Amino acid sequence: MRAKEEMSFHIRTYGCQMNERDSEAARALLERNGYRLEEEDAADVVIVNTCSVRDKAEEKARGKLGLLTATKRRRSGRVVGVIGCMAQRLGEALTEELPGLDFVLGPNRLSALPSAIEAARRGVGPVVDTGETRDAAEFMEGHAETGVSVFVNILLGCNRGCAYCVVPRVRGREWSRPAASVLREVEAVAARGAREIVLLGQSVMAYGRSNAVWENESPSPGGYREPFPRLLEAVAAVPGIARVRFTSGHPSGCTEELARAMAEIPAVCPHIHLPVQSGSDRVLARMGRGYNVEQYLAAVERLRCARPELAVTTDIIVGFPGETEEDFEATRGFMDAVGFDQAFIFKYSPRPDTPAFAWPDSVSAEEKARRNAVLLADQDRRNLASRRRLIGRAVDVLVEGPSLRNVRRWAGRTPVNHIVTFDQMNGIQPGDIVRVLVRRATAQSLHGEVSTAHHFGASSSAAEKGGTTA
Ligand code: SAH
Ligand code: SF4
Ligand code: F3S
Repeated sequence: MRAKEEMSFHIRTYGCQMNERDSEAARALLERNGYRLEEEDAADVVIVNTCSVRDKAEEKARGKLGLLTATKRRRSGRVVGVIGCMAQRLGEALTEELPGLDFVLGPNRLSALPSAIEAARRGVGPVVDTGETRDAAEFMEGHAETGVSVFVNILLGCNRGCAYCVVPRVRGREWSRPAASVLREVEAVAARGAREIVLLGQSVMAYGRSNAVWENESPSPGGYREPFPRLLEAVAAVPGIARVRFTSGHPSGCTEELARAMAEIPAVCPHIHLPVQSGSDRVLARMGRGYNVEQYLAAVERLRCARPELAVTTDIIVGFPGETEEDFEATRGFMDAVGFDQAFIFKYSPRPDTPAFAWPDSVSAEEKARRNAVLLADQDRRNLASRRRLIGRAVDVLVEGPSLRNVRRWAGRTPVNHIVTFDQMNGIQPGDIVRVLVRRATAQSLHGEVSTAHHFGASSSAAEKGGTTA
């Protein structure tokens, strides 16, 4: 057996931003324990972080795990493990389905990774841990490599129980991390160069509603009493942090106090991801979303009053059981009425152990595909129109790194979360906020050139706060 110091690992991540963040914390833990990050093909330990939200996500992970466990025949000593939501949902059953698996750890049990790997190397196992005890604060605060924009999980689990959704089943009851731990984490990554913090939760503005997170209940410096606006204020005040985002939102969290925080704290970006799922009250009621169309619009209106430039993005499910052509057309009209700045459209996928699983999956696969394509085309048109309106205007871009499409260009985002690329220039580096003149627009991105006159260095986040143009 090789010494642990020589062991390498790779983590393949499926699913949402929360999984990405969990993988990052897992990487930090393994590096602290002497493991070295490696490409998948060469790694001694391969870990797959999985998602259960739609059947397709699980099928992808299954395929990957099948291939990986097959490689063990050629490579004795290779360890293959599965973590995340699908690990939680299926537990023991996964080890029966895939006999080569060495461990199965639920999303709250990732601190057990080093011991599960050790057990596999001793030939003990498979280890299955889908327990309810959450990972310790030290694990949650861990970061390996710090980028310009950093995800921070603040609210774990979900109490809503939408009829179609597996998340409450795999992520458990809502629990908010103590604010002190969140702020310790933000301060640490800010000291290492992070400039933007994205606060994550399934219904993120419910932060601190199910359990206490602040040591005292007296109002914050800005007079905020609700736990979430207080956290926004505190994160924005951390030296080096120029932008704060949060996702996903729920209309019940769009309070007057949140609106005031968005108006008064310039670092809070004028963007909200507020999944609506459907524009039909009938469907919303059967989904158990906890709002109707009118209440959703009122929530958007409250935030738009506070920040008129607010961009609203959303998630939509097409083909939910019983969704009629009329319901679908209502969704179409609603998306136009709100003027979503971006929309992620999903075809309904029945999930075991959810209430809707028992209901007839009444919309055919072809019809789901059609509705999906119609909404995508609508959204593309809206995207293109709204982004073309920015041609000739200046936008402030937080530079994140080389563009994925063309490494000679930098890419970054505007406050409303539009992706912008521009030619690399001397003196500009990731973490800078630069003003870019938009020359060209597509449905997904903006392209332009830096107007050097407005180049704000990393040390002058105040410049952005006064100069936001998009
Ligand atoms: N907590 C977030 C969303 C989590 S899941 C929220 O409520 O806003 C991300 C998205 O996946 C959801 O917004 C929904 O649009 C989609 N989704 C969830 N369950 C699904 C299912 N069974 N079939 C298709 N899409 C689903
Ligand atoms: Fe799922 Fe609804 Fe919770 Fe979102 S709010 S994670 S859709 S149950
Ligand atoms: Fe998927 Fe789990 Fe996220 S089910 S969407 S990875 S919370």
